[in-house]
Amino acid sequence: MSLLISNIGSLVTNDPALGAGPLGLLADAAVVVDGDRVAWVGPSAAAPAADEHADAGGRALLPGFVDSHSHLVFAGDRTAEFSARMSGRAYGAGGIRTTVAATRAASDAELNANLTRYLEEMLRQGTTTVEVKSGYGLSTADEARSLRIAAGHTEETTYLGAHVVPPEYADDPAGYVELVTGEMLAACAPYARWVDVFCERGAFDGDQARAVLTAGAAAGLLPRVHANQLGPGPGVRLAVELGAASADHCTHLSDADVAALADGDTVATLLPGAEFSTRAPYPDARRLLDAGAAVALSTDCNPGSSFTSSMPFCVAVAVREMGMTPDEAVHAATAGGALALRRADVGRIAPGARADLQLLDAPSHVHLAYRPGVPLTAAVWQGGVRRV
Ligand code: NIG
Ligand code: FE
Repeated sequence: MSLLISNIGSLVTNDPALGAGPLGLLADAAVVVDGDRVAWVGPSAAAPAADEHADAGGRALLPGFVDSHSHLVFAGDRTAEFSARMSGRAYGAGGIRTTVAATRAASDAELNANLTRYLEEMLRQGTTTVEVKSGYGLSTADEARSLRIAAGHTEETTYLGAHVVPPEYADDPAGYVELVTGEMLAACAPYARWVDVFCERGAFDGDQARAVLTAGAAAGLLPRVHANQLGPGPGVRLAVELGAASADHCTHLSDADVAALADGDTVATLLPGAEFSTRAPYPDARRLLDAGAAVALSTDCNPGSSFTSSMPFCVAVAVREMGMTPDEAVHAATAGGALALRRADVGRIAPGARADLQLLDAPSHVHLAYRPGVPLTAAVWQGGVRRV
């Protein structure tokens, strides 16, 4: 079946060959979808016929958001911790252990139901590709089941056994790294595409992070890193050195970190929901963009540091607080996320790309930042199938 979407007031293709600027913007455009792929993009007046027709009514059509960083396999929530933070308590990595206890106690069905609920929440806000990490199991069995459950929903699954050292290894962090790089990795690798590590004071240091990422790579997993979130550290440079697809958070960067990101292939993935919800200073997106680094935006959706599933919220905060233009933020939330997942088939609307599309109830993608907090998602297609 083919579908013609015509009368698109403003089309974001993210393909500079198809339209103006880095967003490849086209006015009065049309898109033809054939099966799960985009087959044609061009002026509405020149559109070919198709089996079905949808009238965009002059509104904006964008690639579905690519949310390249989330922690959605968990149980329970951390409302009390959030309230305490908003009355002045600082955020620390230790809160993760609260969710580990709740996750270990949950059944597979509960974890799957939670994950399904948050993925649906994301879809309703225009997100069509989601990366999902483990990291709240922290035992071989609980990490493996977390990834098995995640793999039932997305190809973008990330082994984060090295999230924090669980309580039973409190006196033996080296023993835990041995588990994460040995038996746990072997059990998890079949369900994971990526390996990640929380490289931070209170979690894993540079040497431990290197051990985790190189063991993961030897097992066929591709590296990405939680880096420089709570303070300066070696995470970003380690990520670039190991050719990680992404260094995530990038809140506390030295000039050398920024230069490394600008010179290397590692995407700087910024997660403004975390700074919002931990009342921390935002990362400086302007500094990264001006240096020439590739930037992605993502929700980091998790029950501790960033319990938002909303990419539009992240776009709005990035524009208001992080020095991004609306065009840059929308690019980072779509094409940027795709680059951070090393995916060429999503994050753009061009012939051959996956037909992951979102129609906004607005004339322009700029409204995502201009109308913060307003639900603007009018329709979503995922792989050519209308989902919203
Ligand atoms: O990305 N930084 C580490 N992991 C999560 C926080 C998880 C939690 O607090 O439960 C993050 O912010
Ligand atoms: Fe995270």
